[in-house]
Amino acid sequence: MPEYNLNVNGQSFTVEAAADTPVLWVLRDHLRLVGTKYGCGIGQCGACTIHLDGKAQRSCLTPVSSVENAKITTIEGLSEDGSHPVQVAWKEADAPQCGYCQAGQIMTASSFLRENPAPSNEEIRKAMHGNICRCAAYNRIEKAVAMASE
Ligand code: FES
Repeated sequence: MPEYNLNVNGQSFTVEAAADTPVLWVLRDHLRLVGTKYGCGIGQCGACTIHLDGKAQRSCLTPVSSVENAKITTIEGLSEDGSHPVQVAWKEADAPQCGYCQAGQIMTASSFLRENPAPSNEEIRKAMHGNICRCAAYNRIEKAVAMASE
C-alpha cells in the first residue's frame, strides 16, 4: 500500500492508503477527524466539503493521491475554539437544525466569503446552492452567511 504525506490543519501526517481512496475516508477513518461528513459519496450534497489551499472541495471525490502538496483544512481546523466569523454567525443565527450538513455548509461559506467578503443575497444563494440541507434550514443558513459577511 502506498504512503502519502499530508498536511491537515497545519499538522503533518503519513497515511497508508490505496491511491484512489477518497480524502473523506482518510480524514475520518485514518485520522479520526469525523467533523467532515459522508452524505452521498458522489459529489452531490456538499456534506464532505473541506478546503484545499483555502478553496472548498468535495472530499468524497478527491483521491488521496492528489492532495500531497495541498494544505488541507477541515472543520476541526477552521478555528481552535469555534471563533471563526462564520462559526460565530452560525450560532447567532441558530442556523443548524439536525446539524449533519453544517460542517460542509460552513466550509463552503468560509471559502466563499474569503473570495467575496461582501456578497449580495443572490450571490450567497448561488454560492451555497450545492450544499444540501435535509431539514431545509436554507433561510437561516443564508442569514448566517450574510451575518458573517458584515
Ligand atoms: Fe461528498 Fe455528498 S458526500 S458531496
